[in-house]
Amino acid sequence: NHYVAIMAGGIGSRFWPKSRTSFPKQFLDILGTGKTLIQATFARYSKIVPVENIFVVTSEDYANIVHEQLPDLPQGNIVAEPFRKNTAPCIAYIAFKIHELNPDAVMIAAPADNHILDEENFGGVMHKALDFVSHVSALTTVGIMPTHPNTGYGYIQHEGPEAAPGIYKVKTFTEKPNLELAKTFIESGDFLWNSGIFTWKCKTIISAFEQHLPEVFELFDGEKEQLNTPAEKKTIESVYSQCPSISIDFGIMEKANNVYIIPASFSWSDLGTWNSAHANMEKDYFDNAVVGDNVMVFDTHHCMIHTSNKKMILVQGLEDYIVVDTDDVLMICKKEKEQDIKDYVSEIKRTK
Ligand code: GDD
Ligand code: MG
Repeated sequence: NHYVAIMAGGIGSRFWPKSRTSFPKQFLDILGTGKTLIQATFARYSKIVPVENIFVVTSEDYANIVHEQLPDLPQGNIVAEPFRKNTAPCIAYIAFKIHELNPDAVMIAAPADNHILDEENFGGVMHKALDFVSHVSALTTVGIMPTHPNTGYGYIQHEGPEAAPGIYKVKTFTEKPNLELAKTFIESGDFLWNSGIFTWKCKTIISAFEQHLPEVFELFDGEKEQLNTPAEKKTIESVYSQCPSISIDFGIMEKANNVYIIPASFSWSDLGTWNSAHANMEKDYFDNAVVGDNVMVFDTHHCMIHTSNKKMILVQGLEDYIVVDTDDVLMICKKEKEQDIKDYVSEIKRTK
């Protein structure tokens, strides 16, 4: 009854210019571990459920890349989306699809961009989540102890007593707060980060769609008999063309009142930005993370320097900068502005 859906259709725009719409970060070996993010994610979940029960939901443009990078994943388990509509439609699609196969299914919906150490502990937490939601109509997420006021995450406040050992009812869920609010959350010491690793019964998340995103619910519910049949592709094209673009966090998790959190003790990072890569990489004595063979740094501190070119790069006197050189783009950006890279990229797309 246990399934995993890996969400791998994002474009990783805060990792620009290394991550590109045509080949986004989940297919890159960001940390130089020898595995791409999606390969590491797939390996992690294949210890929890059989590979036949793992689905990868991605844009149809990436279906071939997924197939190449995950040769052990049955090809029918690559679920292709015709349009990029963020995570709520992605989750609605896969929850309805699995529910049609197995009405009692319990699923984990996981991002493809997490970096997790201590896999044994991770497995224990996920089994606890699967067990809990099979008895309770709950939407659970794994909570991470925050370290700084990051505005790219969801913040969760929970209330005691425990609903089950190590599991708490969520009081507030705030997706991507502004910096001021994030600082208040961190100072209060009362909040955890949302890891974005969700566990629920398919039928529980489907009811949550019915309640909180009824327009998305109606679209999929009206066509659910077509799923897992030869008509699926055409049906999904029409459903997606009418779907709003919204994340599961804004669309459901902030609103639902049956949300539970499992505080995790394993080491977790979202490899969503250059700073997160910097934090997880080996650094020189001056806290610079340097990738590339031909880079020289002088009087430089706390920088992320990444090049895939042979050209020599010489950096002098930079503090707290991200420098990324690719074939066609050189980006130099203050580390504190990394959340804005997304907006710069949209601006480039608009004007070029
Ligand atoms: N299939 C599909 N389709 N996948 C998508 C889409 C889509 O349209 N959009 C995003 N994804 C995938 C991404 O590839 C990623 O693996 C995952 O869904 C999460 O999307 P992100 O874009 O990385 O979200 P985020 O990091 O800004 O925020 C989420 O994760 C944080 C922790 O990593 C939220 O859940 C936050 O609350 C959370 O703190
Ligand atoms: Mg992310």
